[in-house]
Amino acid sequence: MKVLIIGSGGREHALAHKISQSKACERVFMAPGNGGTVGVAEPVQIDPMNFDQLAGYVHVNKIDFVVVGPESPLVAGLVDYLGADARTCEVPVFGPNKMAAQLEGSKDFAKGFMLRHGIPTACYATFAGSEYAQAAEYVARKGAPIVLKADGLAAGKGVRVCLAPGEAEDALRDMLLDGKYGAAGAKVVVEDYLDGRELSVFAVCDGKDYVLLPTAKDYKRVGEGDSGPNTGGMGAVSPVWYADADFMEKVDSQVVRPTMRGLRADGIDYRGFLYFGLMRVAGEPYVIEYNCRMGDPETEAVLPRIKSDLLPLLYAAARGGLGPQAAVDLYPQACATVVLASAGYPGEYSKGKAIKIGGAVAGAMIYHAGTALENHVLTTAGGRVMAVSALGDTLRDALGICYAQIEAVRYEGKVYRRDIGLDLGG
Ligand code: AMP
Ligand code: GLY
Repeated sequence: MKVLIIGSGGREHALAHKISQSKACERVFMAPGNGGTVGVAEPVQIDPMNFDQLAGYVHVNKIDFVVVGPESPLVAGLVDYLGADARTCEVPVFGPNKMAAQLEGSKDFAKGFMLRHGIPTACYATFAGSEYAQAAEYVARKGAPIVLKADGLAAGKGVRVCLAPGEAEDALRDMLLDGKYGAAGAKVVVEDYLDGRELSVFAVCDGKDYVLLPTAKDYKRVGEGDSGPNTGGMGAVSPVWYADADFMEKVDSQVVRPTMRGLRADGIDYRGFLYFGLMRVAGEPYVIEYNCRMGDPETEAVLPRIKSDLLPLLYAAARGGLGPQAAVDLYPQACATVVLASAGYPGEYSKGKAIKIGGAVAGAMIYHAGTALENHVLTTAGGRVMAVSALGDTLRDALGICYAQIEAVRYEGKVYRRDIGLDLGG
């Protein structure tokens, strides 16, 4: 099978690596890929948002299967486009359609969906730009702590967790009055603060059935001790010990199955990865957010733990034929992932710094994200530069391998968190 993966991050590098190991895989292509994916996928210089060019490429190159990594093309309707274009309508695509991707594309849509289908989530209210006075009154009445979320896509940076009095008023002004979040902030969801432990749960969905993948915890704040602003994610570990069998039974019965039922009831055909961002509060699961794709860097910590061939699973899901018995086999080890970023991220940072990888530490996997290969020189090209992952008999072993590999990676402005997994016994 010739597989085209859409995207360019560490998540897509990990997907390409896993898919390339499949017996069913003949060639992997990636549009556009990054400086490190060339070893595993053939680069295709097409922007993920250029649907017409993607359709042309799929047709001309006789691609058999398309896997979409990031949310932006999904929310903008790439799957619908390929499904409607005469050149590509017969090619299975793994990823939700535009309607289904609204679970991530609009926080207000997701909250309405959860309310409608009885899925546990924080109480909330939504306000448009013209409702600033009502929003300010609501925020003042609720008091701190409280959470404000820009309604639209904001690359993981549209959420302001306001712990101290006054912070929410500032965040509200930034979103509704000053346009600091662009179109994403034209509406704001204000929700109650949930005090608990976070985890991410992932499902491969085919419209009817689903398979759960290993759980993960993502480290979202840029600084050690969970300080500083939110990022796309600075590290991840899998599994998460507090997602034990009892808790996962609650997740399945109170969150995952009601979500699948709700999607069907609303006439939404969800095929693709579905990411449940959860908070465990007093032993009960609450949904913080849905994402219409895998997490990044969670993918880099989850896929190394999967023993099964992933490609036939994704292909079956895209065609609506997963079946109720589908499952994945796992390796027993834990996996850790530590992200190397550029100094300044998630704010402004420089690009174009030469990267030297001094040596390969046994067991370490390097997934590239913001890297470019120019005239055979690897350079930084993004805020998150690469993710280093390792399996280990214990989380501590896995982290030891990651940090040893990180020592061998050099570039100006290399920053990373040294406390990934420490709270989970790493
Ligand atoms: P999101 O983009 O919705 O995942 O939010 C980013 C981060 O903000 C989450 O990973 C949580 O750490 C935090 N967060 C979001 N919603 C809440 C909430 N209702 N209570 C507490 N923290 C939250
Ligand atoms: N790491 C968080 C996300 O992918 O949304």
